[in-house]
Amino acid sequence: MTGKLKFRAVLAVAVVALASAGAIGTAEARTPPVTNIVGGSTETTANVPWMIALNNSNSSSPVGQYCGATLVKANKIVTAAHCVTQPRSTYTAIQGRDNLNTGTGGRTSKISKIWKDPQYGQVNGHDVAVLTLTTPFTGVATLPLETSRAADAVGAQSVTYGYGETEGTGPANRLQKVLVPVLGDAYCNDVYAGEGYVSNGEICAGYKAGGKDSCQGDSGGPLVLNGRLFGVVSWGLGCADAGNPGVYAEVASYASALTTQINN
Ligand code: ARG
Repeated sequence: MTGKLKFRAVLAVAVVALASAGAIGTAEARTPPVTNIVGGSTETTANVPWMIALNNSNSSSPVGQYCGATLVKANKIVTAAHCVTQPRSTYTAIQGRDNLNTGTGGRTSKISKIWKDPQYGQVNGHDVAVLTLTTPFTGVATLPLETSRAADAVGAQSVTYGYGETEGTGPANRLQKVLVPVLGDAYCNDVYAGEGYVSNGEICAGYKAGGKDSCQGDSGGPLVLNGRLFGVVSWGLGCADAGNPGVYAEVASYASALTTQINN
């Protein structure tokens, strides 16, 4: 894959929406063959109760699979700005459901408010959003935000989670996790020089050799380090391809704006 996927996402959705109103792809163009979280293993929401499936009724997925998100307060979830291009009423947040194919289990909530980082789309980075739930997931463990940019250090053992593409490495629409060590800003500045990687606002994580990565449909979901929300799945060129690691919005860079929204 070539091109700047984070912007292509918006384009792909727009094009498909024009072609058939009401039917859109996952948050981004798919790269065949398909896998959910590539090279990961199955996880249960019992272990990660703050994991949220952000479904969308305009999604082309039969189960509405669309993006991920993280519960950071009983009534607030953090996701990616590029995940919130659809009308507010089309979203459903799902907590506690391991298998989206079943259509049951766990708790659901509609969205009463969407805040998208106002700089998203104007400058690179800023791929973060905070959504307010109409029905708070009371009593569910939340993840605190990472507020220190020093956490973005080469070799940090971060883990990402999602229900997205597996490229054949796992079952579709089931929660998966995968360890993606931090590769560091210097590496992504190099390999993504033409893609506008932002050191002060993004995290470069995965494997130089490829094989394990987040993928389409995982966007908006968490990258977790030390029990905190360290990153938000944002973009990459293809998935799990050598030399093209995953890029995650760096939560610490946006922590103050996020906290304002979370407390509001
Ligand atoms: N932008 C994608 C989404 O909308 C996530 C891409 C992550 N890609 C990667 N190679 N880590 O679901």
